[in-house]
Amino acid sequence: MKIGIVGSGYVGTTVAACLADFGHDVINVDVDESVVRRLNEGESPISEPGLDDLLDRHAGESLWATTDYEDLATADVVILALPTPANDDGSIDTAYVEAGAESLGAVLPDFESPPTVVVKSTVLPGTTEDVIRPALERESGLRAGEDFSVAVNPEFLREGSAVEDFRNPDKLVFGTADDRALDALEAVYAPLIEDVPVVRTGPREAAMIKYANNAFLATKVSLVNELGNICKEYGVDAYEVADAIGLDDRIGERFLRSGVGWGGSCFPKDLAALVAAARETGYEPALLQAAIDVNDRQPRRMLDLLDDHVDVEGERVAVLGLAFKPGTDDVRNSRAIPIIEGLQERGAEVIAYDPNRGAVDEMRERFPDVEYLASASPTLSGARAALVVTDWPAFADLDLEFDLMSGDVVIDGRRIIERRDGITYEGLTW
Ligand code: UDX
Repeated sequence: MKIGIVGSGYVGTTVAACLADFGHDVINVDVDESVVRRLNEGESPISEPGLDDLLDRHAGESLWATTDYEDLATADVVILALPTPANDDGSIDTAYVEAGAESLGAVLPDFESPPTVVVKSTVLPGTTEDVIRPALERESGLRAGEDFSVAVNPEFLREGSAVEDFRNPDKLVFGTADDRALDALEAVYAPLIEDVPVVRTGPREAAMIKYANNAFLATKVSLVNELGNICKEYGVDAYEVADAIGLDDRIGERFLRSGVGWGGSCFPKDLAALVAAARETGYEPALLQAAIDVNDRQPRRMLDLLDDHVDVEGERVAVLGLAFKPGTDDVRNSRAIPIIEGLQERGAEVIAYDPNRGAVDEMRERFPDVEYLASASPTLSGARAALVVTDWPAFADLDLEFDLMSGDVVIDGRRIIERRDGITYEGLTW
């Protein structure tokens, strides 16, 4: 099957490489010439485990990239994987998906056979019907459902394990009322169909499933954080409580790690968008707003704990971890951002370390006056206090490094540091 993919970000590149690995012929379109050149040379524009290997095997063979939408004309399916970033009011900015749909629409009349356009970008119910489909029809002069098909097929890929998640999904969601689109999606995912639950539903439901999925998970973490905050007040270990409640199948053992909260490119953006969209309808989403509020509060609680022990004005303070979670270079909405801001407001001299060089480079852009060091030892050396923000597994091995500090306060936002003699250890929720 010939598959076109519009957009080469985290999602587009991962999906392109994985579909090429399924045996499809994949063409990736991106407006950025340097991204296209790198992809054709087999080099990933993003850092994701397993991706380099897939590109190495398939780039230039069954996977190639172009800046020219006309190259899509032989495709059976075109997947839109363009970003829907947040506007200032939290709503999604649909300008990129609309522009992509317009560019695709302009070449739709040249397609050899009626294609299926698959919306993989995270969009609200109605975006496909009110923005994307009209753009395709306007530019092509063709009619959806007759001359081409449309489907919504959200992704649930986690950064850091996106390739693995693509190959072993919990579910596939096919949102369309069009049988031709359904057949096309079944062919795209043929190697998975036998073993994976497939949800065949409408496009609006498919769009909502993505938001509901992320809203549920983010709220689950905020709930466990709120319970953890209460546990801490009672001197109770929230992790023991979480392990116990996780034994109840109805709760489930995953996503019960309390701490400094959720970040990344999805949870904060998707919750804000759902809240903004709900308010547009006149419904006030009290629980989702509370989940956001609890998440915003966790870094402040971490800084309050620090204040309880030490005045950091004029002092060196170490921040361990900048990526929003381990295994990624992504610092978008990382909890390290409010932590560094809070430390700078207190007049601290911030020294930071992250095992991922890309995360450091990104954070340096945002906080040029922070000192970034190449490993944990020099970062801790001479620090009055240390704040642990990301649960990189390597941090679990830190031990004697804490003896290099000038003070002894270690605030752990992720339950990754071993409590030991010689440090004043504070867990955020334990
Ligand atoms: C998420 C969703 O999991 C994925 O399905 C979706 O499509 C994109 O958004 P991702 O943002 O890559 O994926 O990360 P995820 O592993 O889900 O973690 C999100 C955030 O929650 C991280 O900041 C993580 O540290 C935090 N988290 C997660 C917790 O604080 N506690 C937990 O128990 C789990």
